[in-house]
Amino acid sequence: MSKKKLNRRDFLKTGSILTTGAVLMGAGTSRLFGIGSSTLQKSSIENIVLNNGVKMPILGFGTNTLKGSVGERCVADAISLGYRLIDTAKIYGNEDAVGLGIKKSGIDRKELFVSSKVWVSDHGYENTKKAFATSLSKLQTDYLDMYLIHRPREDYKGSWKALEELYQEGKIKAIGVSNFEPDQLDDLMASSKIKPVINQIETHAFYIQNKAFDYLKKSGIQMQAWSPLAEGRNQIFSNETLAAIGKKYNKNNAQVSLRWHYQRGIVAIPRSSQKEHMKENLNIFDFQLDDSDMKTIAKLDLNKTQFPEWS
Ligand SMILES: NC(=O)c1ccc[n+]([C@@H]2O[C@H](COP(=O)([O-])OP(=O)(O)OC[C@H]3O[C@@H](n4cnc5c(N)ncnc54)[C@H](OP(=O)(O)O)[C@@H]3O)[C@@H](O)[C@H]2O)c1
Repeated sequence: MSKKKLNRRDFLKTGSILTTGAVLMGAGTSRLFGIGSSTLQKSSIENIVLNNGVKMPILGFGTNTLKGSVGERCVADAISLGYRLIDTAKIYGNEDAVGLGIKKSGIDRKELFVSSKVWVSDHGYENTKKAFATSLSKLQTDYLDMYLIHRPREDYKGSWKALEELYQEGKIKAIGVSNFEPDQLDDLMASSKIKPVINQIETHAFYIQNKAFDYLKKSGIQMQAWSPLAEGRNQIFSNETLAAIGKKYNKNNAQVSLRWHYQRGIVAIPRSSQKEHMKENLNIFDFQLDDSDMKTIAKLDLNKTQFPEWS
């Protein structure tokens, strides 16, 4: 089985596949992450540039369900392997564990891109300001790289006003939203001063979200995928189509899925509680899906959420 390695020219060609309008920064030859190493790895994940000029890694670490000592250990492990973008949220009940994991990693805070979200129960201008202060305290930091409105419910416009002020005060480097439909984004932008940098939405091979993809690209808002591995639903890890593609490159279904996001210019934040999986999910920068692979994956689209319980 041949493992295709990319030289610099191929790598730059790969970068040109990125289609959401994201600009890649610091692109260079990515290397494999050392298996078995417990030392802090220098990250070789490229950055994209958000619409306010802030740089953000194109691949990050999701933390939903990773709480307490497990959450702390997983975040520290992820950082030691090279992840620098950490995604959390008030509703995950793990901001304290994420904060401890960051401390445990020993990494300089400035090397990280820490992102959290305000939950619906804290919506409204005043409540959002308080919730943000609590998130900072739990995360043991004095600023966030990104803060998102988790869902477009209740008084989210009041929350957005709070986010705008916190951004202008320098307490948040970039502000964005999650789970917004295009019309909700249009409405928010029509009544506010600052354009969101990102919309974090469910995106994976079974729910490609072409309409949102096109809208976000046109609007200069970065698309970020939650549940980029569909949380394992619909048997994604044993899907035969993904497996056949992966076999050509000696990659597994998770890696093919994450490479697919990467080539579409989407920021993915896979979660894992296992160090081996964390490593696998980083090891996606030394091969390239061709046009036919991308078209084949597009045919897996079921065009509906795999999380109906959250709709
Ligand atoms: N904004 C929102 O509304 C929203 C909603 C959902 C999620 N999110 C964010 O998106 C992140 C990712 O989504 P998610 O956590 O729902 O699911 P996900 O990342 O799509 O999938 C996680 C699952 O995949 C497994 N997995 C990971 N890597 C694997 C690999 N290489 N091989 C086999 N299995 C693997 C994990 O199991 P192991 O632990 O065994 O590896 C876990 O069960 C969340 O953690 C959260 O930060 C945001």
